[in-house]
Amino acid sequence: MIIQIALILLTLYFIYDRVFLVYYNYWYYQKQGFKPTGLPWPFLGDILTFLKVLKKQDEYWEDTHYEYLRHVFNDDIPQYVIDFRFPKGILVITDPDFVFESYTTKNKYFEKIPRSYNMSKKILGESVLFAPADEIYTLKRKHLSSAFYKDKMQSQLNQIMSTTFDMVQETIQQINQGEVELDLNQYIGKLILKSIQICIFGLNEQLELLPFKQNGKIDHLSQGVFMNRLSAGLLERSNNIFRINFEFLDSYFVGRVEKELEENTMTLRRFISDMINLRREKNKALKPEEIHHDFLNLLLQDDLFKDNESLMVDECCTFMLAATQTTSTALSNLLFYLTKHDVIRANLRNEIKEVFGKEPTISQISKEEWLEKLSLDKISSQWNYLNLAAQENLRIEPPIRRSSPMIITEDIEILGLQRNANEWPEPLQFIPERFDPSSKHFLTAEGKKRKPASFCPFLGGRRICIGKTFAENIT
Ligand code: HEM
Ligand SMILES: *[C@@H]1O[C@H](CO)[C@@H](O)[C@H](O)[C@H]1NC(C)=O
Ligand SMILES: *[C@@H]1O[C@H](CO)[C@@H](O)[C@H](O)[C@H]1NC(C)=O
Repeated sequence: MIIQIALILLTLYFIYDRVFLVYYNYWYYQKQGFKPTGLPWPFLGDILTFLKVLKKQDEYWEDTHYEYLRHVFNDDIPQYVIDFRFPKGILVITDPDFVFESYTTKNKYFEKIPRSYNMSKKILGESVLFAPADEIYTLKRKHLSSAFYKDKMQSQLNQIMSTTFDMVQETIQQINQGEVELDLNQYIGKLILKSIQICIFGLNEQLELLPFKQNGKIDHLSQGVFMNRLSAGLLERSNNIFRINFEFLDSYFVGRVEKELEENTMTLRRFISDMINLRREKNKALKPEEIHHDFLNLLLQDDLFKDNESLMVDECCTFMLAATQTTSTALSNLLFYLTKHDVIRANLRNEIKEVFGKEPTISQISKEEWLEKLSLDKISSQWNYLNLAAQENLRIEPPIRRSSPMIITEDIEILGLQRNANEWPEPLQFIPERFDPSSKHFLTAEGKKRKPASFCPFLGGRRICIGKTFAENIT
């Protein structure tokens, strides 16, 4: 009986929240001079339209919200749209000038929604990802950024290249021994995870398996698979329709599925804590110059973090979550596009020949030669075409399609996307020359210079991805 009453109350609250607020906002925005799209039943109409759009899902499917807007506006999304599928309405902006202002002069009024912080507190604690951009945040970001100073980054990249070289050698041997099939996604996933582990934990060996709980069963998973499942679970939790509607449950894990998610979260945090303590002990026996340049050691030597284990775990979790899948998605996609485009692949091969100054078969290039030719200085000065292809890859398939939700903290006046046909003619074509200033593809449909904010796979302003340069170099 109590449960039934609770359910009825919950449903009433749900109806109030969805229907009342949606209609109120609809009316309010109309009064402000906005033109909500011509649905007489914004709530029901939008849901039905959305279901219709969802049914069309196929292999060419883009981000769900983007597909929905494309459908509603026949592919011609206006500069501003208010989307009422969410209780308070979401302002969708496709105008690069607006985005540019939000990253620059108006940046201080843009903030992550406070809910994200509550929702992720259990796993990410007070890490920079969802913390409000206050003084502590600014200070933390400054300290964390030193992980990407040039000498440190070079030493990390050298280790990554060395690991990659070894892994490729191993694969060549397997192929010579008759192995015929390779799952590229899995392969890249493993490679990137190894690379990120080197950068975060300074590790080059296989790590222990982690216990992952699902449906009452425990699977022992490699760290990569563990992270994949954990991030999928966290994403599912935050997209749950009840979660979107009921803020008061944000800090809690409700029901069996979420309780298991909570346990898995704790497993990861405990694992990182153990690594920290182990490392602290190991470092005691070393001289300062013998201490390796990885992220964990940076935290262990940083005044802001070194005495607070919980804060260190927060940032390590964020780095694991933010770095692994993004980078491996980028790399898999780039390889995919290279297999699809013979000319682009040939251009890249020519660049390799040019940089090495001879015509080697790839297998004749030694590890030392790769490290030398792919140093940070040479990446920017000698690998022009590789850089164009990497940029185009982040334009056509940004690994993060949508930023986390943002709010504007004060009433501000403001002005008035990466597949915007005005900015990027033939938006669905993979054309690295779009980023080459001497090419005709460098310009917009009207022959003008592109707006700076029409390309922002790493977001922008003070919330720009902290690993941007690192991610660009690693791919
Ligand atoms: C191709 C690879 C990557 C892409 C496309 C990417 C993209 C992004 C984007 C779009 C955001 C904003 C997230 C939001 O809307 O809430 C972000 C934030 C962040 N990224 Fe990346 N990222 C990549 C790789 C990395 C790597 C390798 C690291 C770490 C080594 C990293 C660390 C972070 C952190 C710490 C933040 C939070 C920054 C803050 O709010 O202060 N990312 N990234
Ligand atoms: C976050 O959670 C705390 C306590 O659980 C609550 O007091 C606060 O209002 C929440 N903030 C938001 C924005 O939901
Ligand atoms: C670590 O920092 C957090 C947040 O600033 C604080 O609540 C906690 O008490 C600190 N723990 C220690 C051991 O200092």
